[in-house]
Amino acid sequence: MNAKILVAFATRNGTTRAVAEAIGEALRANGSDVDVKRISEVENIVLYDAMVIGSAIRSEKWLPEAVEFVVQHRAVLCQAQVAYFTTCMTAAEDTPERRQTALGYFAPVLEAAPEVVPFAMEVFAGALNGKKLSFPQRLTVATQRLPRGDYRNLTTVQQWAHEIYPALAQTEGV
Ligand SMILES: Cc1cc2nc3c(=O)[nH]c(=O)nc-3n(C[C@H](O)[C@H](O)[C@H](O)COP(=O)(O)O)c2cc1C
Repeated sequence: MNAKILVAFATRNGTTRAVAEAIGEALRANGSDVDVKRISEVENIVLYDAMVIGSAIRSEKWLPEAVEFVVQHRAVLCQAQVAYFTTCMTAAEDTPERRQTALGYFAPVLEAAPEVVPFAMEVFAGALNGKKLSFPQRLTVATQRLPRGDYRNLTTVQQWAHEIYPALAQTEGV
């Protein structure tokens, strides 16, 4: 039997939903039964053999509901194959420094639930619509020197999903 996989995501403006759906599509193409759900809509985590969990970044952190989800379900997650992803604008610029910064955004969730050890963590460029920002948000975005526009590359996202699939599916029959 193929692994049943959950792709759970947290978003504010929808960018991360599209990334999560692209991951789900690629995993399904490998033959697994995959649910893609907003974190607030996940009902029963024990239904799944493996999980891919991702969040948009606000002020250098995962959204609070994503960290809370990992903390709340850490007993199940530490027994499963888990991968994390992040959608952010720092990843829009493909330099080793920016990548290091973006990978650093995993630190708070890794510290909040250290018993959950993801076998893979990846950062993807997101999208930022400057017109929709409030004044304080504009300040945050300017301070961080974040680019505006849609930098998503769903081909790269799906490549990653294909790469992690064998490890996710390892849980078959457990
Ligand atoms: C108020 C605000 C703060 C942000 N802070 C960061 C940040 O610290 N680092 C970063 O790389 N991107 C940051 N971003 C960019 C978002 O992570 C990016 O736009 C992402 O694609 C949003 O995902 P969503 O559409 O799923 O909410 C910020 C965006 C906003 C609006």
